[in-house]
Amino acid sequence: MLISLDDTFFTHGHGEHFPVMLEASIACLNTSAGGLFLDGTFGGGGHSRALLESSSNVCVVAIDQDPDAEKRAAALKDKYGDRFLFYPMNFSNISQIKEKNFQGVLFDFGLSSFQLNQGERGFSFRFDGPLDMRMNNTKGITAHEFLESVDEIELIRAIRDFGEEPAWRRVVQAILKARGSGLLSRTKSFAELVESSIPKRGLQRYRIHPATRSFQGVRIAINRELEAIELGLKEGFKYLKVGGIMVAISFHSLEDRIVKRFFRHLSGRPEHKKDQRFQEERNVLAKMISTKAIKASHEEIAVNPKSRSARMRSLIKLSKGEVS
Ligand SMILES: C[S@@+](CC[C@H](N)C(=O)[O-])C[C@H]1O[C@@H](n2cnc3c(N)ncnc32)[C@H](O)[C@@H]1O
Repeated sequence: MLISLDDTFFTHGHGEHFPVMLEASIACLNTSAGGLFLDGTFGGGGHSRALLESSSNVCVVAIDQDPDAEKRAAALKDKYGDRFLFYPMNFSNISQIKEKNFQGVLFDFGLSSFQLNQGERGFSFRFDGPLDMRMNNTKGITAHEFLESVDEIELIRAIRDFGEEPAWRRVVQAILKARGSGLLSRTKSFAELVESSIPKRGLQRYRIHPATRSFQGVRIAINRELEAIELGLKEGFKYLKVGGIMVAISFHSLEDRIVKRFFRHLSGRPEHKKDQRFQEERNVLAKMISTKAIKASHEEIAVNPKSRSARMRSLIKLSKGEVS
């Protein structure tokens, strides 16, 4: 299948938007017979658009919790009319939408380039902006409020567990000390605080900017991203038809671990090394299309280096049944 680059790689404000693993994911979803597909992470709409372009018998229901995504979805509504529907909501609430029985369900987790490239959203230290980081910026607390107010345990969870920051002790202490100083209110000043809290000899070990992991950890914490992924996968699978396909693209190991374990669980395989349940105790509801995660091609990585971290997993639903 050939997907038109003009249709899916479009430019915006500060750069280009590249839907990740586009061709591989749409091919895997197999749209040849048409049907109703769910795009759980609309973002810039690259995957939704490619699904709609792949066959005139495809209809897409798309979800995104970012109010800006809703504005972008309006363009698809204009072009595809009744074939496209958008819900501004968290994908952990899939059960609330009235459409059910999807032929395919797609998740492309993480942030869109639209979110990353808008300084005022506070996701990136490449721009100086308010330290916000909410995917849905109409509710919840900002990253600034989080850093100023939560207890030390929650900070450790964010920086050590969600950010996987090796120097988490120093970063957490620096945050606690900086409370009330104004340094936790802007992306640049927070990035500098994190960098300055890591000893110089330690800094040489970082191949990425030393604040990258802490930014990731705080973002995951305030958006409750991992909980949402667990729920979204479960709900998405529940409303997938028997014979339907689910595809999930992750960007870091924490996301991919959740997908991998859930897919192994559904396929009746041990979820991890310590899972020693008897085979009779396992309920086989699905089959993984490939047991290993698929990575972006060299060609795609050359055009869009960010796709290097992407991991795609997919499964086919074999039977109905409660997910235990
Ligand atoms: C990587 S982008 C998706 C890009 C999209 N596939 C495209 O081609 O343009 C991920 C999107 O998922 C959204 N998102 C992340 N977590 C979400 C959640 N729990 N509920 C709803 N949307 C979510 C983000 O707001 C973001 O727009």
